Amino acid sequence: MSDMSNGPIPIILDTDGGVDDAMAIIMALNAPQLDLKAITVVAGNIEVEQAAYNVLRVLSIAQPNSPPLVAKGCERPLVRPPFNAAGIHGADGLGELHRFKDAGDTARYPHLPLTPSSQNAIDVLLEAARTYGETLTIITLGPLTNIATAIQRDAETMQRVGQIVTMGGAVTVPGNISAAAEFNFFVDPDAAQVVMESGIPVVLVGLDVAMKAPLPRQAVEDNLRRQPTQVAQFIADCTEIYMAFYRDNEGFHGCYVHDPLAVGIMIDRGLAQTERVHLVVETEGRFTTGMSLADRRDRRDEAGNPPNVEVCLDVDTERFWPMFDELLWQPLGNH
Ligand code: BDR
Ligand code: CA
Repeated sequence: MSDMSNGPIPIILDTDGGVDDAMAIIMALNAPQLDLKAITVVAGNIEVEQAAYNVLRVLSIAQPNSPPLVAKGCERPLVRPPFNAAGIHGADGLGELHRFKDAGDTARYPHLPLTPSSQNAIDVLLEAARTYGETLTIITLGPLTNIATAIQRDAETMQRVGQIVTMGGAVTVPGNISAAAEFNFFVDPDAAQVVMESGIPVVLVGLDVAMKAPLPRQAVEDNLRRQPTQVAQFIADCTEIYMAFYRDNEGFHGCYVHDPLAVGIMIDRGLAQTERVHLVVETEGRFTTGMSLADRRDRRDEAGNPPNVEVCLDVDTERFWPMFDELLWQPLGNH
């Protein structure tokens, strides 16, 4: 478990506002080990404007006692054109919530006048790095554009950050958006490479572990029946389209919980087996753009290319699922 002797760890979540991002945000809000200072938002699954709205929607449902600041960041990748995942997460990036009606045909998720902070995400990241220094962990759940932009603006300040726990990459397994690449790295490979070579300690939670933790649709429905809370209803609703994608394309009715796993591994590093490697991200490949390439040769070039990433290669799912259940479903009095 995280060392709590100095109180909860200051965290910034950087997210692209999708379905599994929503679950990860709720977990982080409910984790007593974490002190969620701010949520910075980036374009990825959906445009940044909608992604920020989705984050605010999640907060309006989870109702934390002290809601974190939500700040919008980059609208597009550093170099490449935007590329979204609306076909997987739904047209709004959050399972098309406007479809759901309650008794009397009233909208279950009516449009809310939600606006993010006027502060820019990059300023929020740099300010947090200055304030919390090495005690700060940034957990990234989307393309790394915001983090890379903050590094490009002021590398020295960002190098004070204790660690970045990143959901991204696929080291020993195939990609998900292409044969070679995981979605977050594929969308902004240039940003991912900036982060990998930044010198900031990086823990990589990629598809190597995410694909070992499938959440069955049945578990979501069982939980809703057992505890029909607003959060359980929201999880059942927002995951409907996302889970149908896996049913139709990957042969199981459920979904991977990529982003929640990054939060889980942040809370309890012992969940994952890791290896320190030198890792680069392909930014120019014809077939391999966004591929995360780790040097796992027996005879590595440790002097020229020292390890820059701690990559998660295996996960103890028997320990992860109870944590997921506790932090996601319980109607907690979150802090
Ligand atoms: C990642 O891609 C996104 O669509 C998910 O939210 C997750 O962060 C998985 O490849
Ligand atoms: Ca995400």
